[in-house]
Amino acid sequence: MLQVSIGVSTLLFIIALNNYRLGKGTSPSSILSLAAFSIGPMFLMMFLPIAILQAIILAMLTVVCSMRRSTVKSFATLAIFGSVLPYLVIGWLTYRQMADALERFPYESMVERLPTPRKLPGKESATAEKSELAALESTLGENRHYGSRTWALESLHERTLDMFLMQPGFGVARMSDMSIRALEPAATEPTPAQPGTPPSEFLSAADLTLIPTPTQGDDPVGPLSSMHRDGVIDFVGLPNFGFFKDRQHVSGFLAHRFTRTPSAGKQWKLRTLDLIGLVVHDEPVAYVSENLPRMDELRKAPKRTLDAFELKGLEALRNGQDLFVREAAAGQRVLGAIRCARQCVDCHDAERGRLLGAFSYTFTRNGP
Ligand code: HEC
Repeated sequence: MLQVSIGVSTLLFIIALNNYRLGKGTSPSSILSLAAFSIGPMFLMMFLPIAILQAIILAMLTVVCSMRRSTVKSFATLAIFGSVLPYLVIGWLTYRQMADALERFPYESMVERLPTPRKLPGKESATAEKSELAALESTLGENRHYGSRTWALESLHERTLDMFLMQPGFGVARMSDMSIRALEPAATEPTPAQPGTPPSEFLSAADLTLIPTPTQGDDPVGPLSSMHRDGVIDFVGLPNFGFFKDRQHVSGFLAHRFTRTPSAGKQWKLRTLDLIGLVVHDEPVAYVSENLPRMDELRKAPKRTLDAFELKGLEALRNGQDLFVREAAAGQRVLGAIRCARQCVDCHDAERGRLLGAFSYTFTRNGP
């Protein structure tokens, strides 16, 4: 768009100078032609703020110089200055905006924040249920398409000059938007609090004697699977990944966090949802928090060791199971695998299918 602006500016300058030279500077036809050439591109779906600003300056100069009977030469000098001025002003304002954006979304390194997962015992990636992983990957989708936040962040760092020149100040045309606004993360709900306290019997050593969930019949695992998958998708939040260049250069990443309370249908009421992390610490840890998991809070949160149900469940997840469910009269407990999907591989530096963590849920029965 800058080229179009420069073209139109040159034309405006020639028109103003020519009219002044012919002594017709302040005639209605002269003013009209300046207006027509600066506003005219709008009919071609282009808006050129620089040209409009320049046309106003040139019209004012023409009036002042005509009144003072200035020579053509001094008019020309002032007109050159008046034509360049809008570029300087809009260039400076746009430069400030871009510099601000670079300061707000700098490249950050994930290396210290996110250790490469160590090899753990178990056959986790080999036997991981690939169908669940594939379902997660296809629901997560892609975030690098034209116009997305990731694409805007990539433009900011990797095509800075292009993005600078595509800012609206230099002219707006259809399909040429590389908006700075697209860098902003979407506004989301704050992370909800834990819905309740765990029923005490779930934490006792009796956990392991809970009755295994029946898997035949009307597939009790179905709604739990989709609840868990939706939970993982909400927690990681694809648009929050930002732009990943390499592990030292990630821009606009927002830490994983829940934005809504998962629901497993009418039958069950969620009481607690804890994250079990397998990446950040040497040993698996369960984070203790007042809110549903959000990493910026969990980094400083107290940790507890896994209880018997979770230890047993983790073993099952490591051996390829995706959900480990145990039921008792009062409710049920569920451990759901969080595996490394295709979209997580680069940042987590882990192979696809690797277990990165688990959500540990407790439910009580709803109603009578
Ligand atoms: C752009 C980088 C990035 C991407 C992409 C990413 N993560 Fe993370 N993830 C992190 C960081 C960094 C942490 C460590 C916590 C922190 O500093 O916010 C983390 C932590 C986690 C944890 C907690 C680990 C622990 O031990 O506490 C889990 C689980 C997790 N990520 C799962 C995923 C999954 C699943 C995906 C893909 C769907 C994913 N992440 C994609 C950066 C990323």
